[in-house]
Formats: sequence, C-alpha cells, structure tokens
Amino acid sequence: MSRDRDFAAVILAAGMGTRMKSALHKVMHPIAGRPMLGHLLDSVDKLAPAQKVVVVGSGREQVEPLVADYRGSVVVQEPQLGTAHAVRQAEAVLQGFDGDVLILYGDTPFVSAGTMTRMRERLNAADAPAVVVVAFRPADPKQYGRILAEPDGTILKMVEYKDATEAERALDLCNSGLMAVRASDLWALLARVDNDNASREYYLPDIVMIAAADGRRSAAIEVPAEEVEGINNRAELARLEEDWQQRRREMLMAEGVSLVAPETVWFAHDTVVGRDTLIEPNVVFGPGVTIGENVKVRAFSHIEGATIAAGAEIGPFARLRPGAEIGAKAKVGNFVEIKKARLGEGAKANHLAYLGDAEIGAGANIGAGTITCNYDGFFKYKTVIGEGAFIGSNSALVAPVTIGAGALVGAGSVIVRDVSADAVALARGGQTEKPDAAAKFRERMQAKKKAM
Ligand code: UD1
Ligand code: MG
Repeated sequence: MSRDRDFAAVILAAGMGTRMKSALHKVMHPIAGRPMLGHLLDSVDKLAPAQKVVVVGSGREQVEPLVADYRGSVVVQEPQLGTAHAVRQAEAVLQGFDGDVLILYGDTPFVSAGTMTRMRERLNAADAPAVVVVAFRPADPKQYGRILAEPDGTILKMVEYKDATEAERALDLCNSGLMAVRASDLWALLARVDNDNASREYYLPDIVMIAAADGRRSAAIEVPAEEVEGINNRAELARLEEDWQQRRREMLMAEGVSLVAPETVWFAHDTVVGRDTLIEPNVVFGPGVTIGENVKVRAFSHIEGATIAAGAEIGPFARLRPGAEIGAKAKVGNFVEIKKARLGEGAKANHLAYLGDAEIGAGANIGAGTITCNYDGFFKYKTVIGEGAFIGSNSALVAPVTIGAGALVGAGSVIVRDVSADAVALARGGQTEKPDAAAKFRERMQAKKKAM
C-alpha cells in the first residue's frame, strides 16, 4: 500500500437506537467512562486520517461537541433511508477527497486500528478489489446480512437476512457492515443503489453486487466476532464494558500492577498505574487518574480526577474526587474525602475527614473528623495548612483560612481566623467542673423514682 495514500473515515450513527430505550444518543453511552464514539474516534485517529465524518439523525447536539474535540465533521441524515443513503450524506463534505474511505459504525466501537489497516491494505493490494468488506462468524448469526464467498475471500453474493433464501440464511459468514472503498468508486456506486428490497431501504452491501455487475471483484476479510459485534441494548453495552475491563486488568497486571481480585476493580479509559502498585478488591476509578509506583490502594476506594504519587497509601474506603493531588508517601485513610486539594509529601489524613479546596503541607497531620468548610452556599474558599501542622480531631476550618507551618489546632476547634506558624490555637468552649454534682443528681432522681 502506498504509504502516503490518504484515508477518510465515515462513521454511521443515524440509526434510532430504539432498543437502548434512552434519551441519550446510543453512541454517547459510555464504556470505561468515555462515550463509545470516543473509543472509535480514538482508534481512527491512531492512523492519522485526512478527514472524519460522523453521520447522525436525531440527537446531533449530543454528538457534535465530542466530534468537534476530534476535529471531525457531523452531517445529518434525515430521514434515515438505509446504510447506503447514510454514507451518501458524507459526499458533500468529502468533495475533492480521493483517497480511501473507511465506513465504520458508531455502535461498533472496538474495531481495532490493526483491522482498519488490514482493510486498507486489502483494498490497495495488487488485485484492487472494488470493495473490502469486514466479515465475521458470530456464534449466533441472528439477522446479520450474509456473505457467500470463495475460500480466498472473493465475494460472490451479499444478501440481507430479510431478503435471503433459507439456504443463504444457513451461511455463517456475516457482514459486520464495515467496509473500505476508494472515494473514486464509492459515490458512483452509491448513486446506483435502489431500495427495491424487503425493507424498502438503500442497502450499503448492494454496492458489492453493483460492482460485480461491472465485472469488478470485492473481497471479504475475516475478523474475530468480539471485535465487530455491535451494541444494540444495555445488556450488550454491559457485556462490552466487561470485556474492556477484562482486557485492561490483564494489560495492567502484565505491566507490573498487582490486583488481588482483578474482576472487582473497574478502570476508566485513561487510568494510569505505576509498577508495584497494589490495588485491593472493589476499587472503582473514574476518568483522569494517574497513580505512581509502589502505591497501595486499599479496598472499596472510589477515585477520579486524582494524582497519587509514589509510595502513598489510599483507603480502605477513601474517596478522591477531581483535583485531589496526593503527595509521595502520604496517607489517606478510611472515610476521608478529598476534592481539589493537595496533600503534601508524607502528610496524613487517616480517618473521617473532608478536605476540599485546600493545600496541605508536607508532614502535616489531619485529625479524625477535620472538615475544611469551603463553601458558604455561594462561593468556594481555600484552606492552607502549613508543613508539619497538627489539626486536632473534630476541627472545623472555616475558609478562607491559613494555618501556619508547625501550628497546632486543639481538638474540637472552630477556626475562623489565620493561625501563626508554631502557635497553638484553641477555639472551643472552656471546660468547667462541679465537684460531686453527678453523684448528687443521681441520689435525687433515685429518691424521686422510689416515691412514685
Ligand atoms: C446492517 C447491514 C447488515 C449487517 C449489520 C451488521 C445493511 C443494509 N445491513 O444491518 O448486512 O450484517 O448491519 O450490524 O447495511 N444507519 C444510519 N442510517 C440509516 C440506517 C442505519 O446511519 O439509515 C447506521 C446505524 O446507526 C448503525 C449502522 O448504520 O450504526 C447499521 O444500521 P442497522 O440499522 O443496525 O443495520 P442492520 O439492519 O443491523
Ligand atoms: Mg444493527
């Protein structure tokens, strides 16, 4: 294949996706925290396409921002008259483009960059097929379109299930829907497709038969079924999520991450984990997490948008929210929530705390029950805690407030003003004592009860 031949991707996503029973566009349903269309655009981008066009029906406004992130264009197919009609909608945007066109499905997100490369290589092989069709043999061929092909992949016939004879339905080679066609052939072939069939739709596979009528051959390439089985309902969405998670767990373990119970740990598409980090059971990662080496993430922690440096220990039962930056060898214990806050090297918040909009110096010790009161119902304010400071248990730090380095805040304090470095701050009711008062009270009440 000529190395500098351009290609464009046309991604079909105008189907109604009715079986999802959702107000959210089918291709925007997430897998590993990223819309399925994002996974597909990412794989496409690995091959540096000249252009990307996504064909949508309703719900354009849901899809457009994501496609814009990938510098693709969106075109609308209205009404939806079939897959061939859908591809035609991209013709205007691709005017003047004369490379290869890969036709992909938005609801088939895990076709690999390797398969896309194979499609192009087959299209540009010496025998120059008119169309390359990605085929597969599913365990249950359901209502997929069928392909009658020679052992070498030369296609003799493509037929939709609804239009097929019993003998054709018995074929196990199925059409995934994904195709590669040269732009110089594609638009002309599409213009000749009619809707004279059982569904009264313009079928994309018909271009293979039209090219055959011109004496041109088309070729099928076979891929594993898992790669091209689409998502039609939420059960299939959950199954692809599980497959994705399984692959990611295996990849991370191969890279030197320990997972005690791999099947209970859920990663996001972009989770980065360093070597010799140990992740205990039942940990869930949202997007945007980077973890260094030798970190311990203990059971039942929920972590998103956080950075965790080497040697830190998180959990059990910790919650790190976006903007949490945990320093090297720092400790975040059970029932501690951290949001948009930096915990310096070796600092500790071991139990029951909320630290939000805060900067906490190295070696500081945050006692149980400490709360940074960062919100007054209208605005957020920052708490700064200096290096080596000690915050006594059950303290409320009312932001904006700064606790100096090495300062000590007495337990149960409500701190509303800055505390100087190395000072002791106490802000709680003074303690009083009435000698023998409890014993006297008891005597009185017992006597009262007896008299009743
Ligand atoms: C299609 C193929 C079938 C193949 C199957 C694989 C045709 C005629 N049939 O059937 O051979 O085995 O996919 O899953 O191509 N779409 C549009 N506009 C439309 C119609 C569909 O954008 O007017 C998009 C859908 O959003 C979807 C894809 O095209 O991403 C396939 O559409 P779908 O209705 O699922 O086609 P199938 O009947 O499953
Ligand atoms: Mg389908």
